[in-house]
Formats: sequence, structure tokens, C-alpha cells
Amino acid sequence: MNEVSDIGVIGLAVMGENLILNMESKGFHVSAYNRSVDKVEHFVNGRAKGKNIYGAKSIEDLVSSLKSPRKVMLMVKAGKPVDDFIDLLIPHLNKGDIIIDGGNSHFPDTERRVKYVESKGLYFIGTGVSGGEEGALLGPSIMPGGSKEAWPAVKPIFQGIAAKVADGTPCCDWVGTGGAGHFVKMVHNGIEYGDMQLINEIYHIMKNVLGMSAGEMHEVFKEWNEGELDSYLIEITRDILAYKEADGTPIIDRILDTAGQKGTGKWTGTVALELGVPLTLITESVFARCLSALKDERVAASKVLTAGPTPAFDGDKKAFIDHLRDALYAAKVISYAQGYQMMKAAAKEYNWELSYGNIALMWRGGCIIRSRFLGNIKEAFDKNPDLANLLLDPYFAEKIQACQNGLRQVTSTAIQNGIPVPCLNAAISFYDGYRTERLPANLLQAQRDYFGAHTYERTDQPRGQFFHTNWTGRGGDTASTTYDV
Ligand code: 6PG
Repeated sequence: MNEVSDIGVIGLAVMGENLILNMESKGFHVSAYNRSVDKVEHFVNGRAKGKNIYGAKSIEDLVSSLKSPRKVMLMVKAGKPVDDFIDLLIPHLNKGDIIIDGGNSHFPDTERRVKYVESKGLYFIGTGVSGGEEGALLGPSIMPGGSKEAWPAVKPIFQGIAAKVADGTPCCDWVGTGGAGHFVKMVHNGIEYGDMQLINEIYHIMKNVLGMSAGEMHEVFKEWNEGELDSYLIEITRDILAYKEADGTPIIDRILDTAGQKGTGKWTGTVALELGVPLTLITESVFARCLSALKDERVAASKVLTAGPTPAFDGDKKAFIDHLRDALYAAKVISYAQGYQMMKAAAKEYNWELSYGNIALMWRGGCIIRSRFLGNIKEAFDKNPDLANLLLDPYFAEKIQACQNGLRQVTSTAIQNGIPVPCLNAAISFYDGYRTERLPANLLQAQRDYFGAHTYERTDQPRGQFFHTNWTGRGGDTASTTYDV
């Protein structure tokens, strides 16, 4: 087979197959390969039949079917399979050829792989691809990073297959060096976790406090999806609530309440702790999944820990549903504000030049968190690329102040009714913490200094000067060194 394909894709699971079909539908010739070659046969004789898709029989065959510079995209399970394929490919590639990893790889792995592959005279791109199987086929959001020199060769394919916003701009642009692309995809997934948990908490309140049926909730989500909350996740929630089994029972009432996870949310929380960023909402959403998974323990505890309120509501239901809408909107703004804070901290730590407006644009369409609201975030960062926090943008500052009462009412009502709302609670606590001029950390510093001579700064002295008090009269004047994590 001689040099006819624009790109080769390894890995014929659903994302790989759909990306290949998407590329082919945009006029690219694609070579497909899979470790178990019978899958290649099955694909070329099935979904790929009659299309410009070549089924490669080996790695050598795949590589020799590609135009130069060769571009090979891995759509395999994150982790060891990516490293294995990189090592299998390297001996067959020439200087300037490009290996692309389109899986959900952890960004430190991508950092390492960029260095390794570049040391062999090749280029490496680690890219986030979001949108699930439908997105992969019809237009995903693509977040590439790594060897910038490789971007011009890959750009026409990626921007060609990506989702487009209304004016035709693709939801794909260069993110940055090293693991920047996979970092941004990780934050996307963290935000996805947060958005989902927020919707779940609102659903829980609607169901258990307001006593709404699945059909009634469907109507509310339908209405919300026509306004500012318009988003893919609200849309699918609307449809899930309307879905009935053959006997007329809403399927949602028969699905077991225990959540799975593949790890990207956990990475987001872990990295936030490492960077020292208060990413409270997303991290709580990961813990909420962990708590949900303790099903047997919760069932047992529900028989023992019976003290607590019985949900009841005697207020104005319609007005409270408006509060729920405002609460969801406000909490979303706070979650995204925290996610962007984390990207800013990472850009500083890893020397990435991230364009926050472009990231919002990449998330505007194609991906799981796509929403109308990301258009407003793009505008905020376009107006002020150095915006310290999304909450300080004039548009969002006005919005959050208008909606904070709803968030406060909903969170306190949930707590009064015994409904767990870790993410709504994280949101209002962050809002109040962020806007508090004087937090109680003065006492915390005093405590640290009392038991460990960790020193403190004073309100009546310039910043950067540290003091120690001999609190008990028994300690000496020796202070411990100060440092920030
Ligand atoms: C996407 C999704 C996807 C993710 C799934 C499952 O952007 O298309 O984020 O990458 O793997 O949503 O994630 P969990 O199994 O962790 O919920």
C-alpha cells in the first residue's frame, strides 16, 4: 500500500471508528488499524465499506499507507497501551512524523511522551476529544497540545472534523505545549462532573422536597433549556426524565443510585490540591459519586441514623422553582470560575500560554459541557484576557449577584429538609468566602503559631514580615520557617 492516506487511526472502539468516518466524510483518506486485526476486517467490510478508508493489516502496512509527514492517531485506552503503541510505531516513522494521542490520557503522561517522542526526532500531540460517540461522528470538541511544530499539518484535519459554532468557527484550536491539551480536557471533564452533580442535586430537591413527578420535572428542564441554562446536559436530563419503560414507569425511577467514574474527575480534584486552587465544587462532585457508590453502607445507615427532618414544602412552588433555576445558574458560574482559576494556576506552573477565550470557544460546541453560557465566558475573556476571576467580569458579577439569593434559599431549604447538596453548598460557601474581606484565618494563623511557632503576618505591619508570639511564656523566640504549599 503506497502513501495515499492523510492520517492513520489506531484503535477501532466506538470513538476511533466514528472519528475515522467523520474524517472520511470531510474528504480525508484514512487508514485504520487495530491490534486484533479481525476488527479491521469487520470495519472495512461494514461501516467503512465503499468509503476512502484503508484497512491496514499491520503497523508497517499502516505506516506505509500514509502521506508524509505521517500522522498516526491513537484512539486506544489511556495508560500502558498508549506507551506500547508509541514504541511499536517509532521504528517505522521518519523525522518529522507525528504521533497523536486522542484518548483521555493524564496530562503528566502526555508531558513525558512529548519529550520522549521529540527525542526520537518525531512530534507528539496529546489531544482531548469530547462529545461521546455522536460527537466523534458528527463533530467533537478537540483540544490539542504538545509539539507545536506539528500543528500546521494536523490543523486542517482537526478543524475540518470539529464541531462548529454558529458563525462556522471550529471548536478546536491549539491549546499549548506539553500536556496542555490533555490538561484542558481534564478540566472539561471535572466541570462535566460538577455540572452533572448540580443537576442531580436540583433533581433530588424537586423530587423529595417539592414531590414532583418525572413528567413535571421534564417540563421544567424543557423550559430551562430554552433560556440561559440551555446546554447539552440540561437537554439530555429533560429527555431522560421523559423516557418511560414499556409499562409506563419512568426509567429513571428504576435506575440504581450508585455512580461510576473512570478517573478524570478524581485527577482534576487531585491536581487542584497540588496546585493549591480552591476547586471545591468539582472536588465535592467526585466525593458525591464516591458516597453514592457506598450503596450497601447507606442502606444500613438509613436504618440506624433515623434522626433528621422529613422533607416537606408549604411555600410557593412556582417561586421556588425559579430559585432552583437561579441556584443552578449561579452554582455553574462558580464552578466554571473555579475551573478557570485552576487553568490559570496550571498555566503559571507549567509555563503554558493558555487562551481562556479560545478554551471557552472550544467548549461552546461538540463537547459534553457545551452550552449557551460558554459564549458569555468567551466574551468575558475576549474583553479582558487577564481577568483575575470570572466572577469579577461585569456581566457575570451582575448575574451572580442577581442569582445568589436563589442559591442561598435553595441550599438552606435543602439542608433544612435533610437533602444532601454538597455542590450547591460548595458554591454558596465559595461565593461568600471569595467576597469576604476578612476571613477567620487570623485565628488559624494564631493557632499555628501557638502550637508550632509557624508565625503570622500582622494587620498593622507591611505584608511579608512574619511575627511569632511566645503565647504561653514557656516557648522561646525561635520561629519555624514559613512556606506556602
Ligand atoms: C467526553 C467525556 C468522556 C468521559 C465520559 C465518562 O468529553 O466525551 O468527558 O471523555 O470519558 O464522560 O466519564 P466518567 O466515566 O468518569 O463519568
